[in-house]
Amino acid sequence: MARDDWHPDRLPDLSGKRYLVTGSTAGLGFFSSLQLAGAGAHVIMTGRNPNKLATARVAVRRQVPDAEVTTLLLDTSNLGSVRAAAATVRGRAGLHGLLLNAGIVHPPRRRETTADGHEVVFATNALGHYALAGELLLPLAAGRGRKVWVGSMSTSMGAYDPVDPELEANYSPWRAYVQSKVATTALGFEADRRLRAANVPIASVVAHPGYAISGRTRGILGINEPSRMTRFVDNLQAPITQSKEHGAWALVRALVDPEVEGGQFWGPSRLVAGPPKLGTASKLTRDEDIAARLWAYCEHATGMTWPYLKASRARRPWRR
Ligand SMILES: NC(=O)c1ccc[n+]([C@@H]2O[C@H](COP(=O)([O-])OP(=O)(O)OC[C@H]3O[C@@H](n4cnc5c(N)ncnc54)[C@H](OP(=O)(O)O)[C@@H]3O)[C@@H](O)[C@H]2O)c1
Repeated sequence: MARDDWHPDRLPDLSGKRYLVTGSTAGLGFFSSLQLAGAGAHVIMTGRNPNKLATARVAVRRQVPDAEVTTLLLDTSNLGSVRAAAATVRGRAGLHGLLLNAGIVHPPRRRETTADGHEVVFATNALGHYALAGELLLPLAAGRGRKVWVGSMSTSMGAYDPVDPELEANYSPWRAYVQSKVATTALGFEADRRLRAANVPIASVVAHPGYAISGRTRGILGINEPSRMTRFVDNLQAPITQSKEHGAWALVRALVDPEVEGGQFWGPSRLVAGPPKLGTASKLTRDEDIAARLWAYCEHATGMTWPYLKASRARRPWRR
């Protein structure tokens, strides 16, 4: 497919390939799952709520009747849930892609912590994905796969405190969101550097959706049902926004375009909207000292080091 001709209706044939999407019950995760399934992929839709997962699966199959879609409970804010879900996935065949999308986009007004004791936005958006990506390193290496971390334009609009990633001091909802997205993006680039250094056959890529909002997204029962007021307000912002369906294009391209390479940053051509284009991530997220410090923090907080050596020796379970 030509680089300027990306469209979900003309994705590469993904039959025989398996992708896991976090936070696939709504928004970008749902539409990414739909686009992948439409191209013939086997999609493992994951989420923290079984009813929402069942609804999302039905909604995908309503549009792609022969879609190969399975569901799996996975709460990214809970390290036990991450480990359990990863164990289930490891018990099956190889994996070709991981879309690390789940996220809290409207953080709580006051700082909240998870059952594991971590600040909830950092835990959900960044730490849980660090753990999941590490737990799934072997099947992803066996599938010569790719992982995509979901960043945000907000990383250019706020500060980052490298000594306090969980905002024990100076919490605000906006700071919590920005910190978590700086962390997610920096981890995505650091993962690529470490995987290359260890000869692990996995690419790590970062993508962002621009500014994608529900009031500009088509209605889907149980998935996207904005009120009339939301539609009205969101449509007033039309020049600087796009639908979540369009926002998912960059994420899916980063995941499946054969020309995409590890360490790249993909997003909409006009920053907030437009077809996917290769871009440059914010300076903070490209700072290797910040990334290395954060990596060490995640290793300590999860008690887990990625199994690079085993992954570098992972054999393909099959060839396409
Ligand atoms: N929309 C944008 O303009 C924009 C811009 C930049 C970056 N992003 C990023 O894109 C990602 C998706 O955003 P979105 O706009 O699609 O948001 P959304 O519509 O609110 O969807 C978020 C998804 O994440 C799930 N989720 C939240 N907490 C979870 C947890 N603890 N475990 C598992 N799943 C969880 C939600 O599940 P529930 O249904 O159970 O809540 C939902 O499926 C986020 O990482 C966000 O930071 C979005």
